[in-house]
Amino acid sequence: MKAPKTQARTSGTSILFEMLGERPHLHDIDDYIAAGGYEQLRRALGMETAELIDEVKASGIRGRGGAGFPSGLKMSFIPVDSEQPKYLVCNADESEPGTAKDREIMERQPHLLIEGCLIAAAAIRSQDAFIYIRGEYLEPYEILVEAARQAQERGFIGPDVAGSGRAINLIIHRGAGAYICGEETGLLSSLNGDRGQPTVKPPFPAISGLYQAPTLVNNVETLASLPRILEMGGEAFGQVGPNPRSTGTRVFTVSGCVQKPGNFEVELGAPMSHLVNELAGGVPEGRTLKAVIPGGSSMPVILPDQLDTPLDYDRFAALGTSLGSGAVVVLDDSVSMPQLALRVAEFYRHESCGKCTPCREGTSWAVDILTRICSGNGRPGDTELLEDVCERIDGNCLCPLGEAMAWPTKSYIRHFREEFHDLIRTGRVSADERTLDAITTHVVDERLMRGSQVQFTGRLDRGSLPRMGARPAAGGPS
Ligand SMILES: Cc1cc2nc3c(=O)[nH]c(=O)nc-3n(C[C@H](O)[C@H](O)[C@H](O)COP(=O)(O)O)c2cc1C
Ligand code: SF4
Repeated sequence: MKAPKTQARTSGTSILFEMLGERPHLHDIDDYIAAGGYEQLRRALGMETAELIDEVKASGIRGRGGAGFPSGLKMSFIPVDSEQPKYLVCNADESEPGTAKDREIMERQPHLLIEGCLIAAAAIRSQDAFIYIRGEYLEPYEILVEAARQAQERGFIGPDVAGSGRAINLIIHRGAGAYICGEETGLLSSLNGDRGQPTVKPPFPAISGLYQAPTLVNNVETLASLPRILEMGGEAFGQVGPNPRSTGTRVFTVSGCVQKPGNFEVELGAPMSHLVNELAGGVPEGRTLKAVIPGGSSMPVILPDQLDTPLDYDRFAALGTSLGSGAVVVLDDSVSMPQLALRVAEFYRHESCGKCTPCREGTSWAVDILTRICSGNGRPGDTELLEDVCERIDGNCLCPLGEAMAWPTKSYIRHFREEFHDLIRTGRVSADERTLDAITTHVVDERLMRGSQVQFTGRLDRGSLPRMGARPAAGGPS
């Protein structure tokens, strides 16, 4: 198996990548077990549901997928005593432009994620755990499949998990390359075999999710944190970070105009400037910082004078933005904001599932107006028209994808209105016409789009060979 391409650098306390030590990865189950792996699963299997959930609640961990919902609370919504089957679904779709942290977790510590999934499944009394992985992530998928095969061989997956008498199966399912299948209800529709489109909430997945049964959906980083939380103790994890509402470390992907892009595991509470300037090396020589996208392309930007804001969920919410998926995209003075807005709008137009009008039509309108502006044919009033389109999307869509275009666009106009006006007036892009590859580089390779599902179960156990290509993945329309 190939070594991972990226290696997260850590600053201060390391929790998620600590087991690695100096090793590039922990692919081999023997190495993982020697480092203490699967011990917390054994413990979890002997614990009551309430005890396990209390431990997660004590840690204060909030979901790392974007919305930042308290993970222990979400777990407690699953009606464990109901007679219906319960499902655990790991969201490994990771499609938010600028985000590549889950990939590194899967590429370097696949067993940590598998153990986290099994712990969560044990907590909610689920016999079936799913990992829904982004179709383009071929290498992480292969690494996970091999790790799951090893775990099944050692009895951590299957009819009698670690000799506990409890059955937990693991199904690894590849998506077909649709961003909207990262949204939890879109993901569940896809996993159900339907078109990958969001559904109305309520009902929330915890009550009616996969196959209309109670389902816990969590991000890769959230689930990979569970073995570490059990090992440290929830309370100890909760003491890392600035306050009980922002605990632990997070893995941030820093890209854009920085000298040393990459993934960084950072203790929450550290200032954003530490991440951008010290760890990622700041903007290139001779450039000045213009703005920072703090949590993926769907988030409003912050300005240079806000760079010392601590990495804290509430502090970023107070700035009208969010740490979102942990994707920090740095913009320097070479970046044209109207061009950036166009790239972002094109992405969301392409990925809109088309189910609701404000998103489907609004993202197209935004692309049309921005194309006009950026090609030197902007009309007076186009900036305000664009703002109006964004206003009409905001709050009027079935899922947050429409807003994912509207929110950042509104923030670019709010902070850089003159740049839009100048471009309309002169027809000339003021900056270096440099666009941000980090925002919208797509590598589309048909080979990667073939859907398949691999199941690791007691029932389907065929020696060491996983069942490949059980059925095609149902992806979205994009
Ligand atoms: C358009 C859209 C795309 C999303 N993409 C992802 C994704 O790729 N990965 C992810 O974990 N969460 C994604 N989310 C958030 C999920 O809906 C969900 O909140 C998350 O998986 C829950 O896990 P957590 O509580 O551990 O964060 C997305 C949300 C939206 C609205
Ligand atoms: S907001 Fe966009 S992506 Fe979400 S359901 Fe509506 S059309 Fe589909």
